[in-house]
Amino acid sequence: MAYDVVIIGSGPGGYVCAIKAAQLGLKTAVVEKNATFGGTCLNIGCIPSKALLHASEMFAEAGHAFDMLGIEVGAPKLNLKKMLAHKDATVASNVNGVAFLFKKNKIDSFRGTGKVIGAGKVSVTGEVSVTGEGGKVEEIETKNIVIATGSDVAGIPGVKVDFDEKVIVSSTGALSLAKVPGSLVVVGGGVIGLELGSVWARLGAKVTVVEFLDTILGGMDGEVSKQFQRLLSKQGFEFKLGAKVTGVAKSKKGASVTFEPVKGGAAETIEADVVLVATGRRPYADSLGLKEAGVEMDERGRVKSDGHLRTNVPGIYAIGDVIAGPMLAHKAEDEGVAVAETIAGQAGHVNYDVIPSVVYTSPEIASVGKTEEELKKAGIDYRVGKFPFSANGRARAMLHTDGFVKILADKASDRVLGVHIVGFGAGEMIHEAAVLMEFGGSSEDLARTCHAHPTMSEAVKEAALATFFKPIHI
Ligand code: NAI
Repeated sequence: MAYDVVIIGSGPGGYVCAIKAAQLGLKTAVVEKNATFGGTCLNIGCIPSKALLHASEMFAEAGHAFDMLGIEVGAPKLNLKKMLAHKDATVASNVNGVAFLFKKNKIDSFRGTGKVIGAGKVSVTGEVSVTGEGGKVEEIETKNIVIATGSDVAGIPGVKVDFDEKVIVSSTGALSLAKVPGSLVVVGGGVIGLELGSVWARLGAKVTVVEFLDTILGGMDGEVSKQFQRLLSKQGFEFKLGAKVTGVAKSKKGASVTFEPVKGGAAETIEADVVLVATGRRPYADSLGLKEAGVEMDERGRVKSDGHLRTNVPGIYAIGDVIAGPMLAHKAEDEGVAVAETIAGQAGHVNYDVIPSVVYTSPEIASVGKTEEELKKAGIDYRVGKFPFSANGRARAMLHTDGFVKILADKASDRVLGVHIVGFGAGEMIHEAAVLMEFGGSSEDLARTCHAHPTMSEAVKEAALATFFKPIHI
């Protein structure tokens, strides 16, 4: 039986694409090599890490903040097994949810490794292949193919790292450590390093981050990175910046990390019980038969795609981490929707200028649009408006006064070009900025929109007031 669309990979890009395609009346199938649907995000990424981030944040709050609120519970006791079980249960309910949605939308699934064997043909190899009709299937015919195979741990370029996922771990092992390490060295001060470093720091590990750049969260607004580094230092993080890691090896204590100053100088080695290597991810396009099928790749091993997510081979599309752009689940989801709409004859589109990004630490970091550095580089005249949470009533009531909101707007038109938030709940607050920017709104539009009192979001309104004129409460 021929399908309208076969999607290889069931992560947020692939599974959302499948559901949208089925909703639009296309005969749809998904090929997935793992035992469960949901890809990295649901199984070993966003979802389990958020379960641990939430639980460890509650643990830290119980230890530090409860007393200040007049709640005397004594020192909280950690039951790590139970915390990890909560994470596993969260993963299970999410991956089962995807299986349910596939059934509900009459999407066939093939368990096995998918390979493109030419336009219109996908092979599946593996122990079990399941279709809506049952039985083992080795070749599927389809009018369209969507590559949604995501990404994998990149490791450190030029450095041999033997991940055992117990002492030298990637993000996968860092989600399941059997006990809290006394010391944890994190290689890479990016999103994964700071999120998972936060989990173990809150549970008692001494965390040291070794980062190549002079700043953590490279690419974020400079003011945000600086203030966030200060806040993490207060939480006990130690930073070695401008340090290039040249070796990671097992040692008597656990593992050792060797690094040298990027600007030159003597190498240094530090020991730790556990080392987390979080130096980025690489697109996963191995053994997919893309080269043989004539699909072009770029210089960084990503599948080349055009503005409509089409590859150079008619009928083959690619979405998510396997193509260019930020490696974010929600970017992949939106691309999945756009491809399904395009295949169904509609006008699928993704606005890459308005893709929010959130770091789920404490406090959270959220941003959308341009950073101040990007505007400077592009020679765009802008206005800045800022407001600190220390001047927000709700933040004071909740003891969450760390951080600020920063808005960047075009000087001539007042159109909002970027919003950056450091603060409790930043990941939820950022979306009013995203909606505003989708509609091409100005800082005055945002400031004149009534915001409920008392909320943390009033700081967004105040920062908008500060952008085009003056804030009220400072
Ligand atoms: P990343 O690219 O965010 O950070 C990697 C860091 O490692 C960089 O700062 C880089 O300068 C540093 N580095 C590279 N080589 C080094 C060396 N030899 N020595 C010292 N430092 C070195 O990558 P990360 O954190 O692994 O995350 C991978 C992807 O997953 C990212 O694209 C990220 O956006 C995504 N992700 C997103 C999350 C979110 O949105 N909340 C959560 C987790 C991951």
